Amino acid sequence: MSGHGTPIPMTSARSGPLKGEARVPGDKSISHRSLILGAMAIGETRITGLLEGEDVLDTAKAMRAFGAEVNDLGDGEWSVHGIGVGGFAEPSQVIDCGNSGTGVRLIMGAMATQPITATFTGDASLNKRPMGRVTDPLAEFGAQSFGRSGGRLPMTIVGAREPVPVRYVVPVPSAQVKSAVLLAGLNAPGKTVVIEKEATRDHTERMLQGFGAELSVAETDEGREITLTGQPELSPQAIAVPRDPSSAAFPVCAALIVEGSEITVPGVSQNPTRNGLYTTLVEMGADITFENPREEGGEPVADLRVRASLTNGIEVPTDRAPSMIDEYPILAVVAALSEGTTTMRGIKELRVKECDRIDAMARGLEACGVRIEEDEDSLIVHGLGRGGVPGGATCESHLDHRIAMAFMVLGMASQKPVSVDDGAPIATSFPVFEPLMAELGAQIRRDNR
Ligand code: S3P
Repeated sequence: MSGHGTPIPMTSARSGPLKGEARVPGDKSISHRSLILGAMAIGETRITGLLEGEDVLDTAKAMRAFGAEVNDLGDGEWSVHGIGVGGFAEPSQVIDCGNSGTGVRLIMGAMATQPITATFTGDASLNKRPMGRVTDPLAEFGAQSFGRSGGRLPMTIVGAREPVPVRYVVPVPSAQVKSAVLLAGLNAPGKTVVIEKEATRDHTERMLQGFGAELSVAETDEGREITLTGQPELSPQAIAVPRDPSSAAFPVCAALIVEGSEITVPGVSQNPTRNGLYTTLVEMGADITFENPREEGGEPVADLRVRASLTNGIEVPTDRAPSMIDEYPILAVVAALSEGTTTMRGIKELRVKECDRIDAMARGLEACGVRIEEDEDSLIVHGLGRGGVPGGATCESHLDHRIAMAFMVLGMASQKPVSVDDGAPIATSFPVFEPLMAELGAQIRRDNR
C-alpha cells in the first residue's frame, strides 16, 4: 500500500530514441525552504517554479497550520505571508508530513525554539525513519521530544520557552540535520554554530543570507563552520526555484542508455553541492554538455544537452557522496548498462532514506539479471553493457519515489519490460514524470489490476 492511497503498478519497456526537451519541475530542497523561510519572514514572499509535488504541498499545509498564509496563485507561482521568526502559532491538528524527511526535519527545527507544542506524523515510510539525528541537537536548544521507540514518528516536540544558542558538530553528513539546527538557531538569541565535516547541499545557508540573516561560513580544521546570528528580522523575497537536478537525473540517464537519444533539459541547478552525479556520468563517458551557464535565483544553472552514450564503470570517489546522495539509485541503473564494474562506497546514509536504497536497488537489479555485491556501506554493480540487461521482473518500490523512477528508466533499455509494484510515490517529487517521459518517447504505462 502506498502511504497516501491505492498502489499504482507501472511497467516500462524497451523504448525508441528519446527526443525533445524535458522541462523537469522545481527543486524539492529549495521549494521546501522557500515555504518555511517565507513563513518566518515578515510580509509577502513570492515563489515561482515551486515544485507542486506531494512532499512540498505537505510543507505548505504545515506552514498554514503554524499560522502563515500560503496561497497557490497558479502556474507554479505561490505567495507566503510570513509571521516572522518566533511568530509561529500552535497548530490545532497533528502535522502530517507525508513521505517527506526534509519537510518534517526542517519544520521541527523551525518550531523547536518557539514556545509551542506540535505533533508530527507521516506515511509508513517516514514513520520508520530516524528523527533522533534532529531531536538530539534540538534538545540542546532546550526543546523536548516525545516519539516512538528509536526516535520515530509520530512525535511531539515541545518548543523551548527560553532557547539558548548551540554549537553543534553534525555527526552524519546531512543537510537536513544542518538545516534543522540553523532554522532552530533563528529564534535563539546569540550565535548558533553548526560544523559539518563534509559539505552537504547549501541551500539553507544561501537562502538565509538572501532573506537577510547574518550568516557566515568558514573552512576550519574541524570542517565547514557556519555561524548564524539569531533573532534577525527576515525580509520577504522573490524566489525563482531552479529545476531539480535530482529529478533531471531520470530523463538524463534514460537518454544516455536508450540508443539514438538526444534530449535537452533546460535550467537545471548546477549547484556544486548537488551536481556529483553529472561529474560521475561524464567520467563514465557520458556525452553531456552544459550550455548557457548562468545564475538564476541565487543558484548556478545550465541547460543540459544529453546524447546516448556507451559508458564504462568507475569507482565513485567516496567524498562525492554528499553531492549525489539521492542519485545512487539511478546511477546503479546506468552502471548496469555500462561496460565493467561500478563501485559505490561510503553510502550507508542510503539505508535511512525513504527506504533502504542499497537493499532496494540490489534486490531489483538482481531480479532483472544484474550481478551485484553489497555491504553495509557500499554497492557494486557488474555492468552488462548496452542492451545486456535481461529485465523481465517486478521490482518493489518500498514507498520510495526514486526507486520507482530508477526501475522505470531501467525498463526503457532492458530486453524485457520492467515493472514496479507501486509508482504512486513518484508524485512526491516528480508528479509529471510519466507524461514527460512518454512525450520524449518512453514506453511507460500504468498496469490495470
Ligand atoms: C535534503 C537532504 C538530503 C536528501 C534529501 C533532501 C534536503 O537528506 O537526501 O532528499 O533538502 O536537505 P539528508 O540530509 O538526510 O542527507
